[in-house]
Amino acid sequence: MREDPAIDSAVLHIAGARPNFMKAAPVVQALAARGIRQQFLHTGQHYDFKLSDVFFRDLNLPSPDFHLGVGSGSHAQQTAALLTTLEPVLLDLTPSLVVVYGDVNSTLAAALVAAKLGIPVAHVEAGLRSFDMTMPEEINRRVTDMLSDLLFVTSPEALDHLAREGIDHARVHFVGNPMIDTLLANMERFDVSRARESVGVGERYAAATLHRPANVDQLASASRLVEALAAVAQMIQVVLPLHPRGRPTLEAAGLLRVQNLVVVEPMGYLEFISLVRGATLVITDSGGIQEETTVLGVPCLTVRPNTERPVTVSHGTNRLVTPEGLADAAMAVLSGNAPHLNKVPSLWDGRAGERIAKIISSWLHQRATSPTEPQHNATVHEQRREL
Ligand code: UD1
Repeated sequence: MREDPAIDSAVLHIAGARPNFMKAAPVVQALAARGIRQQFLHTGQHYDFKLSDVFFRDLNLPSPDFHLGVGSGSHAQQTAALLTTLEPVLLDLTPSLVVVYGDVNSTLAAALVAAKLGIPVAHVEAGLRSFDMTMPEEINRRVTDMLSDLLFVTSPEALDHLAREGIDHARVHFVGNPMIDTLLANMERFDVSRARESVGVGERYAAATLHRPANVDQLASASRLVEALAAVAQMIQVVLPLHPRGRPTLEAAGLLRVQNLVVVEPMGYLEFISLVRGATLVITDSGGIQEETTVLGVPCLTVRPNTERPVTVSHGTNRLVTPEGLADAAMAVLSGNAPHLNKVPSLWDGRAGERIAKIISSWLHQRATSPTEPQHNATVHEQRREL
């Protein structure tokens, strides 16, 4: 596809953590199909091959144009590193639009740097709310939405949240779920038998993932979880691809001594979704997996007191459980006594990336021909001079 001559500066995608590469892939692809010039900046928040590179490989994403390598740290350290590393790059590139994804620290930092430089921001997966300000992601979501010029919403309740927060509805677009685009686009590539074989399980097993700070950072909460997993493992074999964050506390809580529980390294996208697709049951505290199991029709028990994705409970296969309630909830699923709905939410149809690209494309054209457009670049250059 030839480049769109009406738009001279590029769209810059900024992402840096595992859950957001699947959201970016369909947007990158759909913008490319429209001939929009684009670049990809990887912040380096996630840096292990199994949390980052493997997703680029599995999703056929081109290698990032820029890699900042910010790495890990406390929230303040990581966010500060992101801010100071991103600013000079954005000053240099002056993109027409920065596109950010989800709710991680890279999302918040990129939105903040861009907004302060007068560079417009698009937020993919806007408007989700857990109403739990103890979650760092909830803070990231709220601030990012406030700073965004284009807000792409995956689910209708997000429209109400944004309206209540006073965000101009003209900026908000209900487009569906790009992570589900990726899921549907790869359906033929998921190989359940191979995933089962590689972790050594049969046809009946539970796939688990646990990495929320509230669940895994403290020994007390990690111990409650290990006890809960042990109770489930008495009923069904459990496979846990373990995020590095939780490993030390969960191991200290006795994870590796639990019978009938297989702990493995984090998995790439294709292998992990293959494992989920073939599972009898999923146990998680992730956000995205609640959505993926809803579309795959696999029962999901989410070990959290709340969810920013209530549509997965009202329409899908998801249920919220406490660690103490996990074994009973698993028993109900295994005995067929846990009826769940299996309706795919509205617009989770594999075309969200195209809708986003269409809106971005007409927004870029509008700005290219609008007399206010140069002001943004002027602001950027003004700030560059002041530095
Ligand atoms: C981040 C997101 C979370 C998301 C999760 C998906 C924030 C606030 N949190 O949490 O919303 O669900 O990603 O994985 O942005 N580590 C490694 N290798 C890596 C990256 C991290 O070993 O490549 C370890 C380090 O010990 C690090 C810890 O994991 O300190 C936490 O990483 P961090 O990026 O701060 O947050 P996540 O827990 O991954």
